[in-house]
Amino acid sequence: MPEFADPSDPALGFQWPLSQAWPCFDRPLRLGVMASGAGSNFEALVRACRQGPLDAELALLVVNNPHCGAQVRARRLDVPWQLHDHRQHGSRAELDGALVRTFGEARVDLVVMAGWMRIVTPVLIEAYPQRLVNIHPSLLPSFRGLDAVGQALAAGVTLSGCSAHLVTAEVDAGPILVQAAVPVLPGDDRRRLTERIQEQEHRILPLAVALAGLRLQQEAA
Ligand code: GRF
Repeated sequence: MPEFADPSDPALGFQWPLSQAWPCFDRPLRLGVMASGAGSNFEALVRACRQGPLDAELALLVVNNPHCGAQVRARRLDVPWQLHDHRQHGSRAELDGALVRTFGEARVDLVVMAGWMRIVTPVLIEAYPQRLVNIHPSLLPSFRGLDAVGQALAAGVTLSGCSAHLVTAEVDAGPILVQAAVPVLPGDDRRRLTERIQEQEHRILPLAVALAGLRLQQEAA
């Protein structure tokens, strides 16, 4: 049984949800992460594995944008990373085929799309059935697709949030694993609302990975 840091330790910077219920696996899950931008969700996953209760290890980060924030974080955190620049591939399916080979070589159990700003194809989705997790900055099924925070502000909702879900062929429509609600406050703009939603993303994404891992373990039993 792995020993974890105290999930309520203020040094972790945030509280872990449902700290008593986090599962342990037969062996730590090997995670592949895909990121296009700043990589704050990627770093939250690394911290959840190394200092928190997520029984997993970061096997590989794949980025599609050279020198993006996620790549910089991977260097700092000493996580193996690879660049798969979509501009070097003839089609979405070709890129996804390369990703499948790369994650296969890295022997990953689960793949997390942590701010992957590309539509994925059945090539990737069918290679990782029930094993591909996405994080989206809205309370799905509201505000799918691009600029979900802007969509929420434009609609004038008073409650938004984020959703971690399994990926299926329809964009932002797979089964929900975990959601968190975030109130829209007077005077909110994209930046402010995004910041508060991202705080919640960093809490729910590790939990969603743990739940997806638990489903896999139960299926295998
Ligand atoms: C997150 O808000 C996520 O919901 C969306 O892209 C953003 C990525 O942020 N899909 P980061 O790169 O993890 O900081």
